[in-house]
Amino acid sequence: MMMRKLTVSLLSIGVIMTSMHVIAANEPIQPIKPVKPENAELVELGKMLFFDPRLSKSGFISCNSCHNLSMGGTDNIKTSIGHKWQQGPINAPTVLNSSMNLAQFWDGRAKDLKEQAGGPIANPGEMASTHDIAVKVIDSMSKYQAQFKKAFGSDGVDIDRVTTAIAAFEETLVTPGSRFDKWLEGDKNALSKEEQDGYNVFKSSGCTKCHNGPAVGGNSFEKMGVYKPYETKSTAEGRKGVTGKEEDRLHFKVPTLRNVELTYPYFHDGGAATLEEAVDTMAKIQLNKEFSKEEIANVVAFLKTLTGKQPDFKLPILPPSNNSTPRPEPFDK
Ligand code: HEC
Ligand code: HEC
Repeated sequence: MMMRKLTVSLLSIGVIMTSMHVIAANEPIQPIKPVKPENAELVELGKMLFFDPRLSKSGFISCNSCHNLSMGGTDNIKTSIGHKWQQGPINAPTVLNSSMNLAQFWDGRAKDLKEQAGGPIANPGEMASTHDIAVKVIDSMSKYQAQFKKAFGSDGVDIDRVTTAIAAFEETLVTPGSRFDKWLEGDKNALSKEEQDGYNVFKSSGCTKCHNGPAVGGNSFEKMGVYKPYETKSTAEGRKGVTGKEEDRLHFKVPTLRNVELTYPYFHDGGAATLEEAVDTMAKIQLNKEFSKEEIANVVAFLKTLTGKQPDFKLPILPPSNNSTPRPEPFDK
């Protein structure tokens, strides 16, 4: 009797332990792991640069202007506003968990975060500076010079180091600890019935064909409008712009759905104002499915469980400009 009881309880411990691991292993979505930065000084420098509007010609626009870390790493408008109030052509994706993307930008034209970070500084529609001027601005301040030395172990400010530091900071912008991850890790009570039903619909209807992995996206380029065309006024061509191939027209990087509750409006043109609308459109044009009101509500409830712990850090205090710092030019002369 005693023996049997012991075997049973050992067995059930085994089952509990394996099921805790198995849940995550068998699911198309895996939990996000926290990151431990190797070089804290480099991350600190990258954070300063991410928040420094003096990387822009106007002295007014920082990375954080369009990737606001108080708002899910986005600007929450349809398409971004850049230098001299220019309306950009495309919606700003979140920088949260962007280190997990197979490439950067909607069309994947930058291979990684470092390559990406040079783009907006010199983009006339975004920060409108040049790499040369941006480096001169940063290099004019002795506090920055000292931080570069701490981060890289030697003197010197150049664009390669600027983008390396920004990328190192961005790599820390991961959001573990969502309720969905707790559920994946075995906490059955982390999700309500409605949220679990939503996850089941998400899986069984085929959303996970494209939205999978730890970032619930970011792993592939897929056509927007598999079964029915996506109605938009945007002229964005997607992946075709990179490969030149006609069959890549309107193929976009599948966006991450982590923190999607925070990253409205949705799609590359910001065309869907709400999650309900985005889910309904996806079901119709990507899967040829008509979701009921209840299915949409449940999938939306599930998607909201993907909101993780937001980056938590001390706001960087930036060194003041001095007499030799090139001045901002917010307006035409
Ligand atoms: C004026 C607004 C604006 C500014 C300023 C800006 N970005 Fe962006 N960012 C965007 C837009 C819009 C896109 C999408 C462009 C595209 O895909 O063609 C983007 C894309 C990205 C991506 C790719 C994310 C993904 O999932 O593909 C990263 C990373 C990023 N920006 C980081 C930065 C950094 C770092 C800075 C500062 C050096 C910066 N951005 C400045 C608007 C901005
Ligand atoms: C065939 C691949 C594919 C399938 C299947 C698919 N998606 Fe998508 N999803 C995409 C792509 C590509 C985009 C970006 C399209 C764009 O912006 O033009 C996207 C965008 C989204 C967005 C907007 C995210 C953002 O930040 O803009 C949501 C929400 C979404 N999908 C949810 C779903 C749901 C829910 C399902 C299942 C009903 C689903 N998707 C099925 C490929 C897919």
